[in-house]
Amino acid sequence: MQTLPSPSASTDFDMDDWRSGYRSQPNEYAYEIEDIDGKIPAELEGTLFRNGPGLLDIAGHPVHHPFDGDGMITAISISEGRAFFRNRFVRTEGYIKEKAAGKPLYRGVFGTQKPGGPLANAFDLRLKNIANTNVLYWGDKLLALWEAAEPHRLDPQTLETLGLDDLDGVLKSGGAFSAHPRIDPSCDRTKNQPCLVNFGVKTGLSSTITLYEFDPKGRLVHTHQRNIPGFAFLHDFAITPNYCIFFQNPVGFNPVPYLAGVKGAAECIQFNAKQPTRAIVIPRDGTSPIQTIDLQPCFVFHHANAFEADGKLYLDSICYQEFPDLKGAENYLEADFSRIPEGQLWRFELDLATETSQAKCLIERGCEFPDLNPQHVGRPYRYLYIGVAHRPQGNAPLQAVMKHDLTTGQEEIWSFAPRGFAGEPVFVPRPQGTAEDDGWVLGLFYNAERRCSELAILDAQHITQGPIATLKLPHHIPYGLHGHFMQNLVFNA
Ligand code: CO
Repeated sequence: MQTLPSPSASTDFDMDDWRSGYRSQPNEYAYEIEDIDGKIPAELEGTLFRNGPGLLDIAGHPVHHPFDGDGMITAISISEGRAFFRNRFVRTEGYIKEKAAGKPLYRGVFGTQKPGGPLANAFDLRLKNIANTNVLYWGDKLLALWEAAEPHRLDPQTLETLGLDDLDGVLKSGGAFSAHPRIDPSCDRTKNQPCLVNFGVKTGLSSTITLYEFDPKGRLVHTHQRNIPGFAFLHDFAITPNYCIFFQNPVGFNPVPYLAGVKGAAECIQFNAKQPTRAIVIPRDGTSPIQTIDLQPCFVFHHANAFEADGKLYLDSICYQEFPDLKGAENYLEADFSRIPEGQLWRFELDLATETSQAKCLIERGCEFPDLNPQHVGRPYRYLYIGVAHRPQGNAPLQAVMKHDLTTGQEEIWSFAPRGFAGEPVFVPRPQGTAEDDGWVLGLFYNAERRCSELAILDAQHITQGPIATLKLPHHIPYGLHGHFMQNLVFNA
């Protein structure tokens, strides 16, 4: 399976193989995983929760973009060398109503329209909370996240949907709560316990960012609100002990095609390469002034990490040269990878005293979905784990896992090409381990040869040796988005 990527590699994957990972998975399963290559490490104990679109169609009508697919949670619970699988759809209001109606009843943010053309879609500005972006266990609650509205609370054992959750009254009805919370491993406000830091954004001609910090019991310990000028597409942010950092992408929003029922809201985003990307640095104290620093124009969905050092602020982010939309393709399955820019990892050095910045590219190979040792979130760190393309240049699907040593620049890669497709790697520290990279990297990938998904467990100190265990599912899970591993939280039958 492993072949070392060569600069001449041009066809590392087959488009039909790639497309076959985007089939709807309407079934819900619960079983012990029997087909395992290798051995699950005895010390690995906990549950990997993942979220992503489970349906790529609504009653037979294909979605225009996978981001419009209904959220489905996957949980793989690992204990004493055994693993238990469960998947379940989030019973959102939209999911239930569309199941009953047998047709699409809502427009999707990424371009899915109701049947009937523009007349049937114009001025329908309702949002369908599809709960498909991330899943997190915090304060004894399992929450399925979607950035434009409240989370859905789920039963962590059965994955049953318990309903919308306003976080004990913190969120108003329909209140935005980002799908990218950050867990600060040691927070002053919670007496050096971890805290969950997250935001919600309301945007238009200007934007309001509300920041929240929760203690380990899920109680709100701090909140503040800041206004920034202009439209803001803020999917993710980064934290340090003293700051929350956002990148305001150089994009505008032309609402006309959305209002007219021709395009989804996200398709009305226009990238302006003449404008800078703006770093918005918000002090976590809630009172010190915001600072903004102009950067080279680029588009960012995800940040890997940020930290404070030598009186400066460092930010590692996945940058696209422009907004990576479908470049006019009829739908995502026909996307021409060569026309869409790839994500690359850049390091930004922000000098708050002079409000200037410097930037350098750390990973040129197309990459997305970064992760790191959770103890280093917001702190200096050495190792980054990230999904990468098999080929070293140009855009292509993620097919490999990379460990990047930020101190030496050394890269270790394990590739699932040509028929395997990768997603977000999740680093799990070994209990009682002390080295930053002592632990495992878990990745759910899609094996087009079997048309099934597999969970690969890699030793983080020996990535190039390949998986030490591969848990082969007897079915597929469509390409997913984000998730977390909850150590010591275990469920079975
Ligand atoms: Co994301």
